Amino acid sequence: MKRNILITGGAGFIGSHLVRLMVNRYPEYNIVNLDLLTYAGNLANLKDVEHKPNYTFVKADIADLDAMRRIMKECEIDGVIHLAAESHVDRSIRDPFTFARTNVMGTLSLLQAAREYWESLPEKYEGKRFYHVSTDEVYGALELSHPEGIESASTTKASAHGHTAYGKEFFTENTKYDPHSPYSASKASSDHFVRAYHDTYGMPVVVTNCSNNYGPYQFPEKLIPLFINNIRHRRELPVYGKGENVRDWLYVEDHARAIDLIFHKGREGETYNIGGFNEWKNIDLIKVIISTVDRLLGNPEGYSLPLIKFVTDRPGHDSRYAIDSRKLHEELGWEPSLQFEEGIEKTVRWYLDNQQWIDNITSGAYEKYYEEMYAGR
Ligand code: NAD
Ligand code: DAU
Repeated sequence: MKRNILITGGAGFIGSHLVRLMVNRYPEYNIVNLDLLTYAGNLANLKDVEHKPNYTFVKADIADLDAMRRIMKECEIDGVIHLAAESHVDRSIRDPFTFARTNVMGTLSLLQAAREYWESLPEKYEGKRFYHVSTDEVYGALELSHPEGIESASTTKASAHGHTAYGKEFFTENTKYDPHSPYSASKASSDHFVRAYHDTYGMPVVVTNCSNNYGPYQFPEKLIPLFINNIRHRRELPVYGKGENVRDWLYVEDHARAIDLIFHKGREGETYNIGGFNEWKNIDLIKVIISTVDRLLGNPEGYSLPLIKFVTDRPGHDSRYAIDSRKLHEELGWEPSLQFEEGIEKTVRWYLDNQQWIDNITSGAYEKYYEEMYAGR
């Protein structure tokens, strides 16, 4: 079936993996990638699909309501997958207003433009879908305890391999929202607007909340690519606090596969949590990154460990995230395809093999941002 799908934020990290998947998998769809190309957007992420006949790029700001109205109509959009956002917690602490503008007002503009266009059609919302990509950070922080004696809530492949859970509780689709950073507050607000458009106007929406993603094309301000790049340049590795915070990591292509599945088969008005039952304490993850980079660069074991520097903690730093994704597994059969050890090896190799990609985006303005961010920590 022919469809016109608008993917916002398609030049970013997760968006570029989703665009690649959709363009290759659905030649009968027109995939319109809408992105403002902020510091985090990079069309080099999509070199391999940019010449495909079913792919179009539009440079626009999601907070520009008139532009959103025009694009919905001109491209006759029948499905929206919304990823465009300001996504980095540390930046939100320094500049919360930009996060409110993009994540809240941007999402609202997109919702309103979709509503006006779809309501103007004879069939109205029939065959339409607005898919909002959100984060587990909206749920706040879980209690962090010693792993002994704790059983994972998972029934998926990941837990079958016996991975550690760092607490008894997990985020479910019913966990109360409790955001702590300006980033997560802005994402929580956008999630509420999406649900309000469903409840008030009958818009066919679906919302997903995913855990931390890792993999190729992630902007090197985020932990994993930042540390790989710093090791390569023999720079310090700034570990926040004691490195004891826990994150639940998912390979980015598994997230993109989940989005594809839920976009096509998820139930209208529902929320699905996406995660791989793969919790890691930051300091343990950092040691895995160090040993993998050292091995692949031919350095002796432990060579880069002295680069670790414990620095002032991130304000409001959430202690533990852990997603319960059983609903998605049980309803739609999704499960992560990669074990973490395999995913991290692939990821480190990719950054080491694509040094030009990183060097192109870490020059100039980014360099200044990095120096300011870590000055005096
Ligand atoms: P990213 O920062 O890598 O990419 C964001 C993209 O949005 C960039 O291409 C940027 O140019 C674009 N953008 C920013 N402001 C825009 C605007 N005003 N108009 C149009 N485009 C704009 O982000 P990411 O890590 O790929 O995250 C994508 C989405 O997934 C976000 O909504 C984020 O909240 C969510 N999410 C991310 C993770 C993660 O671990 N990275 C986990 C769960 C959910
Ligand atoms: O949970 C999903 C979220 O994951 C997404 O919604 C966000 O968009 C994404 O950025 C990510 O947020 P985090 O804050 O968890 O990711 P980040 O890579 O910034 O940090 C991961 C952990 O590592 C976190 O506990 C903070 C710590 N950290 C991070 C950086 C950048 C450090 O110790 N040192 C660092 O330099």
